[in-house]
Amino acid sequence: MSDLPEHVRRNRALWDDWAQKFVAAGEAAWAQDTPTWGIWGVSESQVGMFPEDLAEKEAIELGCGTAYVSAWLARRGVRVVGIDNSAAQLATARRLQQQYGLDFPLLHGNAEAVPSPDASFDFAISEYGACLWADPQRWVPEAARLLRPGGRLVFLVNSFLMTLCMAAEDGVAARDRLLRPAFGLSRIEWPGDIGVEFHLSHGEWIRLLRRAGFEIEALVEVRPAPTATTRYPFVTLEWARQWPCEEVWKVRRRA
Ligand SMILES: C[S@@+](CC[C@H](N)C(=O)[O-])C[C@H]1O[C@@H](n2cnc3c(N)ncnc32)[C@H](O)[C@@H]1O
Repeated sequence: MSDLPEHVRRNRALWDDWAQKFVAAGEAAWAQDTPTWGIWGVSESQVGMFPEDLAEKEAIELGCGTAYVSAWLARRGVRVVGIDNSAAQLATARRLQQQYGLDFPLLHGNAEAVPSPDASFDFAISEYGACLWADPQRWVPEAARLLRPGGRLVFLVNSFLMTLCMAAEDGVAARDRLLRPAFGLSRIEWPGDIGVEFHLSHGEWIRLLRRAGFEIEALVEVRPAPTATTRYPFVTLEWARQWPCEEVWKVRRRA
């Protein structure tokens, strides 16, 4: 624990504390056979988080939380491993594994330093996991190390545009104007919160991903349906119908 980076230690304490608030959502997602994504529950056909040729392949979910994404992959015949920094989140995941009779490895650890050999996986995925809470300068090269040549990394995270428009106060929705500078953002600590998030501009993501050995295949800007709902207060549907509040990066490890 003491040898973990400071942001990882803080995020571990935060997520061990928040885990209880994510039990119901985890249970609901485990009960779904068909994936839905992000805070608006957009369809797989809209965002295409799962590559088509995954059956029998090996995958890792970086920051799996209650591991419902891993469960969806396991049900598709993927040999999946989940890693998460929070023991409390993994306790929910383990209980749900038992409930659904679905067994796959769950590792308690930091997705910036995964205890797996180089080139162990064909696919890595993160939905608001390591891609938001881990340092991109560490987790992106680590994902590249873990993937085989040609392997894919897909992650869904808050859009950079929305991060610039987010009010600092808890429970207040993103505004329709820029509230903070884009340059030099990267690490964000919201007031009153012990957690640490990371948000990169598109240019920074592209430079980092390419430097780590990835080719960028797609950047999907998520637009919720006109009737979509969310339990999160930080953005309204009116906002999210006008500007992307979430984005999906799809990249491929150079052969
Ligand atoms: C929002 S959950 C993501 C899981 C799920 N997709 C969801 O949206 O509920 C965020 C998870 O990232 C995990 N996490 C944060 N930092 C991490 C790190 N450095 N390594 C692995 N997991 C991390 C947290 O413990 C938490 O369970």
